[in-house]
Amino acid sequence: MDRIDPAKIPQRTLYTGAKMPAIGLGTFGSDHASAELVASAVRSAIAMGYRHFDCAACYGNEKEIGEVFEEAFTAGTVSREELFIASKVWNDRHGARDVIAACAETLRDLRLDYLDMYYVHWPFPNYHPPFCDVDERNPDSKPFSVERFMGVWRQMERLVDMGLVHAIGMSNMTIPKLEVVLPLVRIRPAAVEMELHPAFQQQELYDYVKAQGIEPVGFCPLGSPDRPERDKTPEDIADLQMPEIVAIAEAHHCHPVLIALKWAVQRGQTPIPFSTKEKNLYANLKCVTEDPLTDAEMQILAGCERGNRLVKGQVFLWPGASDWRELWDEDGSQQYWEQG
Ligand SMILES: NC(=O)c1ccc[n+]([C@@H]2O[C@H](COP(=O)([O-])OP(=O)(O)OC[C@H]3O[C@@H](n4cnc5c(N)ncnc54)[C@H](OP(=O)(O)O)[C@@H]3O)[C@@H](O)[C@H]2O)c1
Repeated sequence: MDRIDPAKIPQRTLYTGAKMPAIGLGTFGSDHASAELVASAVRSAIAMGYRHFDCAACYGNEKEIGEVFEEAFTAGTVSREELFIASKVWNDRHGARDVIAACAETLRDLRLDYLDMYYVHWPFPNYHPPFCDVDERNPDSKPFSVERFMGVWRQMERLVDMGLVHAIGMSNMTIPKLEVVLPLVRIRPAAVEMELHPAFQQQELYDYVKAQGIEPVGFCPLGSPDRPERDKTPEDIADLQMPEIVAIAEAHHCHPVLIALKWAVQRGQTPIPFSTKEKNLYANLKCVTEDPLTDAEMQILAGCERGNRLVKGQVFLWPGASDWRELWDEDGSQQYWEQG
């Protein structure tokens, strides 16, 4: 198997001083990739030079991925310190003491002593079963509450104190939510995971987190072309088919996927593309080490913004909420939050 020297992969420096490889492997197999298939992709990825892995308890594959990590450490393919491993607490583990227990389970499943990053996956305690339809609603779902979120964050901070996680992060946040919670935290988030691809650049949120010294980690960096049909809407744009991206890919003699990844890394975020195919895994890692985009191409790609959010989060809506936009504070207000 061909290998990329990990020293050639650009790195981000977290405010903690830790280094995070500027491209990682996503591990959400969704409906189409089994836990075994994703674990086997992680095995290939380690061998070819990936050093950053984006895991989550709700992806249902941490046990299988943990076996691969242990196997790699035992075989001496890589040491624990050489990997940057992230996971996330799922929405049904937001209660008092639940976050700490959930992290302990993830550590056990991944067969690790510590995580490099632990994210709050969503700022809502709203559970939905895997594979449920977008129209399904859980009557126990609740809107965002600063008090509830800070109850979760206090436990995240405790995990840092306990040495079980080296840094903590948030995910699926908005500027209004960050503006309220950042002044309340004792330990600041080192990264915020957010949807980022050419047709959804979230420039304001991106600029806000960068200005706060927080690293933006971009999910769905390729526009999640294989997401389940139920998560697609007629208005969605296929990033990889945008004429600007296709033209730049032709100029670089490569697949449009690689243009989306080069753009992401050169812009300054850390994309976490998913793949289970060795050929694609290798191309995705290699592309950020060679043949950069020109300033003119970066400008063209900046113009691809279409406001096309793919992960809308409909299943997290609470009774009384009518539109997924209520999750995202689009008018900049707190009108959809739980008050008091
Ligand atoms: N924090 C959150 O709430 C959140 C939400 C969504 C996702 N995420 C994270 O972000 C990761 C990535 O998002 P995603 O998986 O939805 O979408 P994505 O990375 O945008 O797209 C993945 C798809 O692109 C295809 N692909 C990858 N490389 C390719 C290549 N070189 N050529 C052609 N096709 C290629 C893959 O198919 P093949 O397998 O055939 O290569 C795969 O089906 C997830 O795995 C997860 O870790 C986080």
